[in-house]
Amino acid sequence: MGQQFRAAVIGCGRPRVEEGATGFGMAHSHVHGYLATGRCQLAAVADISRENAEAFVARYGGTAGVYRDYHEMLAAEKPDVVSVCTWPHLHAPMVLAAIGAGVRAVHCEKPMAPTWGEARRMHAAAVARGVQLTFNHQRRFLEPFRLARRLLREGAIGELRRIEGACGDMIDWGTHWLDMFFFYNGETPAEWVLGQVDGREERKIFGLPVESQGLSQVRFSNGVVGLLFAGYGQDIGCANRLVGAEGVLELHNTAPHVRLRGRGDVAWRTYPTREGLHGGIAIDRGIADLLSCLENGAEPELSSHKAVRCTEVIFATYESSRRRGRVDLPLEQEDSAFLTLLAQGQWGETGPDPA
Ligand SMILES: NC(=O)c1ccc[n+]([C@@H]2O[C@H](COP(=O)([O-])OP(=O)(O)OC[C@H]3O[C@@H](n4cnc5c(N)ncnc54)[C@H](O)[C@@H]3O)[C@@H](O)[C@H]2O)c1
Repeated sequence: MGQQFRAAVIGCGRPRVEEGATGFGMAHSHVHGYLATGRCQLAAVADISRENAEAFVARYGGTAGVYRDYHEMLAAEKPDVVSVCTWPHLHAPMVLAAIGAGVRAVHCEKPMAPTWGEARRMHAAAVARGVQLTFNHQRRFLEPFRLARRLLREGAIGELRRIEGACGDMIDWGTHWLDMFFFYNGETPAEWVLGQVDGREERKIFGLPVESQGLSQVRFSNGVVGLLFAGYGQDIGCANRLVGAEGVLELHNTAPHVRLRGRGDVAWRTYPTREGLHGGIAIDRGIADLLSCLENGAEPELSSHKAVRCTEVIFATYESSRRRGRVDLPLEQEDSAFLTLLAQGQWGETGPDPA
């Protein structure tokens, strides 16, 4: 039995199926992960909704302190680890406050932040203060993705050439797929990004304006190319596709989740998995991993070192759209070019309806 940890949550939410839910209630999945380790006590919660906070504490930890103001909670409770489960515009101020308050670890929901500057500042502050900072790109812990990476490493499709992904938007969902691009490609750094986005349709996800369509081409330093198709009508026939010199591997939302065509194959080989591309178990595993890393000093699988890489690709895609050209990394512009262009009325209401 290792150390015991005092865990706190900022932003309780309500499970998505419950009345009054404003989102997914991700904090419920986080606390499940802390309690599942058998090594954590829910010490305190902070939420501007007293009702959400009290319902949360009644469910998971009767003695936990309930606060409206997260600054007060951090100062009074001095938790070891804090989960930040609010909407993206609140991540940076909350993560920075937790780091400033001297906690040992912060586990924050994705996407990192609405701008590249905020994302960079959180990571830099954690490094400077020696605080372990992680972001919940939990798919790294699910069986189909691990199986795909193992097959790739075993040479099932030969040398990796291209990684493709498709999803509803570049930042809220795309952050997961771009993170998986790095996962498949052995965390190889990205060198440049060429991208385009279109913002004619007004869309917000968790309060954050997102593009209606987007395309990102990212070139990694080992020559592998990543292609992310985001938004309206983007369908590549699977969730992720890995194209190698001698075959193709696909990940599908429906079973069989992992399909492969290697050299000489005339049909797809399918691989049965117990898990799919979603699942709360991945959040439990991420939390168990970050707690053991607090003890052994290893880098957590969900570290901010990794999160900033995929986040940089998102903002470089936006910057490429603004610049109408390739963006070589590191990305220096601290804003979100997409949000800046939106505020300048770049797309307005004049564009043709994509439908
Ligand atoms: N990892 C994933 O697969 C996944 C899935 C869904 C959502 N998310 C992310 O999780 C994050 C949270 O989304 P959610 O659906 O859990 O939200 P939610 O709406 O369910 O809960 C947010 C909670 O934050 C509280 N809150 C708002 N302002 C606050 C403040 N100033 N101080 C304290 N509490 C405050 C609200 O009252 C609410 O209880 C988002 O960034 C979202 O992108 C991640």
